[in-house]
Amino acid sequence: MNRPSLKHFYIKSFGCQMNSYDGERMSELLESQGMKAVEEAATADLVVLNTCHIREKAAEKVYSEIGRLRRPDGSSPMIALAGCVAQAEGAEVLARTKMVDIVVGPQAYHHLPELIEKAASGKVVDIDMPLESKFDALPERRQVGASAFLTVQEGCDKFCTYCVVPYTRGAEVSRPWSRIVKEAHALVDKGAREITLLGQNVNAWTGEDEAGRSQGLDGLIRALAKIDGLERIRYTTSHPNDMTEGLIEAHGEIDKLMPFLHLPVQSGSNRILKAMNRAHTAESYLTLMNRLKEVRPDIALSGDFIVGFPGESEEDFQATLDLISEVGYSLAFSFAYSPRPGTPAADMDNQIDPEISRERLQRLQALLNQQQFDFNQQTIGRKATVLIERKGKKADQMIGKSPWLQSVIIEAPVAIGDLVEVTLTDAGPNSVKGQFLDQKQFATA
Ligand code: 5AD
Ligand code: SF4
Repeated sequence: MNRPSLKHFYIKSFGCQMNSYDGERMSELLESQGMKAVEEAATADLVVLNTCHIREKAAEKVYSEIGRLRRPDGSSPMIALAGCVAQAEGAEVLARTKMVDIVVGPQAYHHLPELIEKAASGKVVDIDMPLESKFDALPERRQVGASAFLTVQEGCDKFCTYCVVPYTRGAEVSRPWSRIVKEAHALVDKGAREITLLGQNVNAWTGEDEAGRSQGLDGLIRALAKIDGLERIRYTTSHPNDMTEGLIEAHGEIDKLMPFLHLPVQSGSNRILKAMNRAHTAESYLTLMNRLKEVRPDIALSGDFIVGFPGESEEDFQATLDLISEVGYSLAFSFAYSPRPGTPAADMDNQIDPEISRERLQRLQALLNQQQFDFNQQTIGRKATVLIERKGKKADQMIGKSPWLQSVIIEAPVAIGDLVEVTLTDAGPNSVKGQFLDQKQFATA
């Protein structure tokens, strides 16, 4: 890169795991250009704000983030606005603040090096959604943690009436089989023992294997499970309508596929699900959840919920609480409905008073928190394998994940990347403790 002044960069990612993954890939790309990542924006020549547009006043938050980048002497680093706010509102942001130099959408960030060059002589915008994959243009994966993300699918064709994703991330596109398998091998070679396959609609992934046979996500998982050294596979986020019987059965057959599934339902009321354009019912969702429990009795289930969607009555809300009670979640994410400009639900005339949404959200979260705590308590006494991911707060503590995605705190001389056998001992609301038993032995090790 012939911009000697741009040596250090800082990337701040907001929102979903897809954005974290994109942040990592941008970081690898900039490093491949000779730049170095720094720990804080204050010492960076280039700051990338990798934004999220899914809820609330996302653009407003972005303006305050941008404002904070101004330095005491009035100068500022080069600023690149990336992610979904860039895609949805980039032009407005450029018009409103002079501080942003580059606007780059989630499908165009592989162009960052050229955009940085061009930004030297004026503001640049790249929000194209090219058909050819940005992944081909990105450098090889570098050093990764014990648990790594791998994007296999992007975009969404579902058009739920509240959601911006189909507009900011574009149509559903699956990455080719061979590229995914190659990236998985590279991740394992660099130290990953767990891979989480990512996609906005990851279970809509389709492709052809080496023999030209058409495959779904279950086929891909079966192939990845053959990689020596890869011990765990997860995938997120799924849509109920793409939950095929083959994928359900995979949960009962593939040991490396962890007993955990995040399957958003959003509401337990069929009337609201219809208005949301979810194209499934509470009953069809419950049938799926029960099938999963049949094939994998110890599966931990997770979901997303929206309260206060336009027209939601107390009865509709109660149906959501009933569905939650019936499923029994180990983990869940819940949100008050937030009207997103340009989505059909934002124009519906029966918007709910935010006070009512807030109160419903509190009741819903009380139930979900109780379920999470109950789940943690039910696991006490079980033996589990834990993948150590990071250091804990106290000097001798290490934190890892159980197969059911619980955070497990261990006090034992174990290292990041170790898979260790523990007995789960004490349950907290957000984590459990593990009594160290042994290092796991692997046939492949
Ligand atoms: N308001 C509130 N929550 C939303 N989500 C998506 N769009 C909105 C919105 N407009 C939630 C859904 C989705 C999760 C990623 O974010 O629950 O599954
Ligand atoms: Fe948004 Fe619905 Fe697509 Fe999920 S399935 S990304 S909620 S439109």
